[in-house]
Amino acid sequence: MKNRITKAVFPVAGLGTRFLPATKSIPKELLPLVDRPLVQYAVDEAREAGIESFLFVSARGKTAMADYFDKHPSLEHRLSKDGKDDLLSKLQNSNIASGDIAYVRQGEPLGLGHAVACARQFVDHDEYFAVILPDDVIKGKPGCLRQMVDAWHERPANYVGTMQVEPDQISSYGILDVASEAGRRIKARGLVEKPSVDEAPSNNAVIGRYLLSPNIMHRLVKTVPGFGGEIQLTDAINAEAASPEGVYGYRFDAQRYDCGSMAGFLKATIDFGLDRPELRDELMDYMRTILDSAK
Ligand code: UTP
Repeated sequence: MKNRITKAVFPVAGLGTRFLPATKSIPKELLPLVDRPLVQYAVDEAREAGIESFLFVSARGKTAMADYFDKHPSLEHRLSKDGKDDLLSKLQNSNIASGDIAYVRQGEPLGLGHAVACARQFVDHDEYFAVILPDDVIKGKPGCLRQMVDAWHERPANYVGTMQVEPDQISSYGILDVASEAGRRIKARGLVEKPSVDEAPSNNAVIGRYLLSPNIMHRLVKTVPGFGGEIQLTDAINAEAASPEGVYGYRFDAQRYDCGSMAGFLKATIDFGLDRPELRDELMDYMRTILDSAK
């Protein structure tokens, strides 16, 4: 087995119905938090974790995303000519070099597991790979994926990004059945997809960061449709829990925003706006005014 993780799969073929009508013509992943699309945050986090090859599992109507990562020579030339070096470097940092990025299409939205299986030609039989859902924007230093990759180096295994959630949130997530815990690493007996609070084995929810062995890919390719008629990634991960490598939750140290939901997206917009020195004072003043007038 290779001793590095250099490939990441970004499943972005979902319909994004929670953001209709915007997502009628704009892929959800291109909606911006301040001035950077969701997908840019995901790619930056992956790069920081050592990822060198990026595979997007895309779909009809999402070609704007492929354009987004392309070099834009005429715009670069213009900014350079006008001496707008800051903007030029922002623009260039958003490029992914030709050959480092690839796209496959998921013909039908048959679920996350199916989307990951669409990446089967991209992942070799002797390497672990990362899966990143750009809807989950995670702010941390080091980033969430970096933290998980570091844990993987200490003990190679399947890892899922994990966070504790409130009881009313449990039924929205895959939940870990915990066998044992050591620091941030949680050994899982398995995963339960969207359980009721009463049936949930813990409150450790799985979010959109994964480091997976090639066995998971083999299983996905063979998996029959599970919960809700979709092919579930959870089923394939679950089946690996009993393998010698096993499955671990990694309780990352970072702030996660569920940007697949409207409220999560708005919270992230506020927080990332407040992080910008040039916006912070004006935004704070504005929020104080709103809060005062709501008293
Ligand atoms: P979601 O469950 O958020 O679905 O997918 P969605 O279609 O993107 O959004 P809503 O619920 O309709 O608003 C989680 C992740 O899995 C990908 C999505 O693109 C998203 O990154 N996905 C989901 C696929 O790539 N293919 C699928 O068939 C389903």
